[in-house]
Amino acid sequence: MAGTGVFADIIEGDVYKYYAEGEWRKSSSGKSVPIINPTTRKPQYKVQACTQEEVNKVMEAAKVAQKAWARTPLWKRADLLHRAAALLKEHKEPIAECLVKEIAKPAKDAVSEVVRSGDLISYTAEEGVRILGEGKLLVSDSFPGNERNKYCLTSKIPLGLVLAIPPFNYPVNLAVSKIGPALIAGNALVLKPPTQGAVAALHMIHCFHLAGFPKGLISCVTGKGSEIGDFLTMHPGVNCISFTGGDTGIAISKKAGMIPLQMELGGKDACIVLEDADLNLVAANIVKGGFSYSGQRCTAVKVVLVIESVADAVVEKVKSKIAKLTVGPPEDDCDITPVITESSANFIEGLIVDAKEKGATFCQEYRREGNLIWPLLLDHVRPDMRIAWEEPFGPVLPVIRISSVEEGIHHCNASNFGLQGCVFTRDINKAIMISDAMETGTVQINSAPARGPDHFPFQGLKDSGIGSQGITNSINMMTKIKSTVINLPSPSYTMG
Ligand code: G3H
Repeated sequence: MAGTGVFADIIEGDVYKYYAEGEWRKSSSGKSVPIINPTTRKPQYKVQACTQEEVNKVMEAAKVAQKAWARTPLWKRADLLHRAAALLKEHKEPIAECLVKEIAKPAKDAVSEVVRSGDLISYTAEEGVRILGEGKLLVSDSFPGNERNKYCLTSKIPLGLVLAIPPFNYPVNLAVSKIGPALIAGNALVLKPPTQGAVAALHMIHCFHLAGFPKGLISCVTGKGSEIGDFLTMHPGVNCISFTGGDTGIAISKKAGMIPLQMELGGKDACIVLEDADLNLVAANIVKGGFSYSGQRCTAVKVVLVIESVADAVVEKVKSKIAKLTVGPPEDDCDITPVITESSANFIEGLIVDAKEKGATFCQEYRREGNLIWPLLLDHVRPDMRIAWEEPFGPVLPVIRISSVEEGIHHCNASNFGLQGCVFTRDINKAIMISDAMETGTVQINSAPARGPDHFPFQGLKDSGIGSQGITNSINMMTKIKSTVINLPSPSYTMG
């Protein structure tokens, strides 16, 4: 059970502690932040409201710990990460329990998130050993005018301190996708978890503590964004920010100093369906892609663009699959569970009301109880409706009927987002042409958008983000290149 057994140290009374200098601590603020359960809409947990002074202390400790960590052999860093991965998997049940209560993730998906996170950490350790264990040798005579009298040796060195800010929808997995690469590359790490998801993240951090990482190297501060949000992201001690979330990322990128940024800020992923597509495959992917975790994924299918001649068939198939989705509490492992907050539910409802007023066809009756919204497919959506462009982050999916592929590509590219997209056709040549024309970081051919497998590159264009993630890219992004040039007194050629 959460907060008991090996996790008893991380809670005192009914308030979870924050993690600093290798210890679980209460904040000197004496204040806490409540975490509301999306299902009951009542307070479920409490976390510390950390102060700016506590953030300063965490940064100072991290700077000291990082110096020693950068001198720790790569194989030892990898070994500790493997230990953390094993502990995370061993304690998957209490961590998953937090995900169910804090973010209403269906029970089985909550367990999968923790297991996927353990696998991600292990892969990161292995990949880090490979890619950080090698550098480059360049010789000078390949550039015009030079003889071979200079050898340039390059290696990858840590940036220093990485600030990781994951979102509510994957508070464990999108935290470790930042923590693992930062640590294997020799950086210190400060985690600011989302408020909803913070308790799962604190349990996850305890697995790193139990694994035996050095004191001060990893910290986790909780609290109000208004108190410590800007203070963290603008802190002079931070050398890199890895953020996943919404518009806040745009504000962070404007305020952050001259440091590398990794940002993933959502999407309006389009699903283009051609007349020759396998319509059963299309329907299965639209329902999985559009409605898993109630549509609260940045990679969810968020608009279907279907060629008119097959639109009726696609809509019918999707409707019959939606009818089979279970709706209810995450504890019962329902497919559709309450969305994260009441204000999210209100926002989603606003999009639905707008579509209704402008004449969209409702394939199901709109139904909402508290934060629980029944899955809804909206047909005959037109570009003048908000739902055609905005990201609902909920279980509602618009269908726009198109008369040509060009019209679909045009709609996709007119979005301010550019995360992923997908195209369904049996014609691989057409699929490649469409993929090339779509202005998104990834295009999936004959499957719904998805970030994983976690070692694949993952990136968004336009307002969807900065930089590329995926295990290898994240490790590289959290390092910089150091060159050492050996200057010989006279040119020397191998075997020459
Ligand atoms: O919500 C954003 C995540 O990066 C999506 O990840 O495709 O594994 O659900 P996923």
